[in-house]
Amino acid sequence: MKPRPGEIVAVVAGLDVSPGRLAAMRATFTAREAARFVSFAHEEHRNRWGAARGALREVLGAALGQAPADVEIRYGPHGKPYVDGLRFNLSHSGARALIALSVDCEVGADIELPRERRRTDDIARRFFTAGEIARLFASVDRKAEFFRLWCCKEAFLKATGEGLSRSTRSYEIEFTASGARLLWANGIPDAATRYSVFPLDPGDGYRAAVVAEGGGLKTRLVRWP
Ligand SMILES: CC(C)(COP(=O)(O)OP(=O)(O)OC[C@H]1O[C@@H](n2cnc3c(N)ncnc32)[C@H](O)[C@@H]1OP(=O)(O)O)[C@@H](O)C(=O)NCCC(=O)NCCS
Repeated sequence: MKPRPGEIVAVVAGLDVSPGRLAAMRATFTAREAARFVSFAHEEHRNRWGAARGALREVLGAALGQAPADVEIRYGPHGKPYVDGLRFNLSHSGARALIALSVDCEVGADIELPRERRRTDDIARRFFTAGEIARLFASVDRKAEFFRLWCCKEAFLKATGEGLSRSTRSYEIEFTASGARLLWANGIPDAATRYSVFPLDPGDGYRAAVVAEGGGLKTRLVRWP
């Protein structure tokens, strides 16, 4: 489970777990996590959030050689969670979570369950750059391409840890024959060489991406458990 140097491990976890497994996961939560778990009004959201947090604790524990309950998760200025000894990021959507792990570079992860009814052209015009919109609108399968790009855009915001404090139009991503790349990002002069973008196919119709601060990296997709 622990990534090798220069490797990004992308862990995909299913979130519709049995009541027994969810109870075991809840037993690993801190008081803050337990309070967040019970705060969800909708049972499916609550259980999936709990399963994502439980899987995160299990995966981090496995990589760090610690019991899940012993993993100490802290938070950066814009809410990015971190632990000592490992870089990671979490995303969840529908019944899946994606956890990106690295030993040597900052990472951001995003997973999305594409929803057919979303007005993706309108969202693209609002959140994407002119270049991204032009390439998207010229693509053959616009809907699929939209979600592929959305994941890459989100993963970058999560790699830098800035989240919504950075405008989604302040950086541009382009798909290439072998994947994707960051073209530029405001305020980061060497952005194009500093970050690597990896669109991922986690299966079952989900789209995903990992962005890592580094070059020459390899990705490894792993199912959990
Ligand atoms: C938190 C944020 C960074 C991502 O949220 P999201 O896409 O709704 O949800 P995800 O499941 O992908 O990510 C949530 C996880 O990100 C992590 N996270 C929270 N703040 C973070 C930050 N600043 N940086 C990186 N990771 C963060 C947490 O682990 C969180 O998990 P939790 O809710 O179980 O604690 C959010 O602030 C954000 O950027 N939303 C983007 C909305 C948008 O307009 N996107 C346009 C894309 S083009």
